[in-house]
Amino acid sequence: MLRLLSRAAFGAFVFAAAAIPAAAQDFPKRNITMVVPFAAGGPTDIVARIVGEHMSKTLGQPVIVENVVGAGGTTGSVRAARAQNDGYAIIMGHMGTHAAAVSLYPNLAYKPDVDFEPIGMAAGTPILIVTRKDIPAKDLKEFVVWAKANNDKVNMAHAGVGSVSFTSCLLLNSILQTKPTQIPFNGTGPALNALVGSQVDYMCDQVVNLVPHVTGGTIKALAVGTAERNPALPDVPTSKEAGLAAFQVTAWNALFAPKGTPKPVVDKLADALDKALDDPAVRKRLLDLGSDIPGKTGRGPQALSTLVKSEIERWAPVLKGTTIN
Ligand code: MLT
Repeated sequence: MLRLLSRAAFGAFVFAAAAIPAAAQDFPKRNITMVVPFAAGGPTDIVARIVGEHMSKTLGQPVIVENVVGAGGTTGSVRAARAQNDGYAIIMGHMGTHAAAVSLYPNLAYKPDVDFEPIGMAAGTPILIVTRKDIPAKDLKEFVVWAKANNDKVNMAHAGVGSVSFTSCLLLNSILQTKPTQIPFNGTGPALNALVGSQVDYMCDQVVNLVPHVTGGTIKALAVGTAERNPALPDVPTSKEAGLAAFQVTAWNALFAPKGTPKPVVDKLADALDKALDDPAVRKRLLDLGSDIPGKTGRGPQALSTLVKSEIERWAPVLKGTTIN
């Protein structure tokens, strides 16, 4: 009986293996493009290049970052959603492009929870309120007074409607009841340059973009929107300590493939991401920049699918009424 079973089991295994498209079995055979829907040098780009570099080693093929900017990251996201679903085009999306954008764009040309195969979360990225270094406010309380008193003159940088920076500061401005002039950039890399140059007054950005500038004193950090202080910036108060407990925001960056990418291919990409997040050197780089690395249960396609759905729901009431077209 055991012999019959083992023969049947082997037959089933052979049949199942033969069912996997040949292209998926020997994936990858060439470069993989990782779309970053924001300008080089910003937080999404930073996370993408850190994990992408290690994924190349596991996959045995180069992972090439391609920055496709515009419309708060939705231009690159549309490009990725419509790419060939063979695993050779993936995207580093995030809480903005793959959750908040659904509420900000009624005619969004993709559904984050339908038009993509989730691969896995790469990094959680707490949000900081940061200002130009010469702002006449030494802390968040003084900034709030100044921002309200100068409401018609204050300007705020962001990376476009649909970005994390736009969404996070939308929450801040609604708490403060202020309406600053909004200055869009193709990413918070260029926005940060403007802030360092005192060409804009403030922004809400992901910690991974900010650590060297905060520690170097080229910008001011007023608060971090998490319950605990960030280990990479222990001197920056939480929003609660700074007197604005309602400002609780953390973002996340995650990898997606186009809908219909074969499961064996998605699994290889998810495995390469998992190995990157277990690598000591990758972990050190991400942690030194203040990001949170997902534990094993927070990784992989199923966890990301659940996160995207819950984040779309979470941001909908917060963003209700702020649609732009
Ligand atoms: C954003 O959503 O603000 C982007 O992450 C900024 C960026 O990565 O450039």
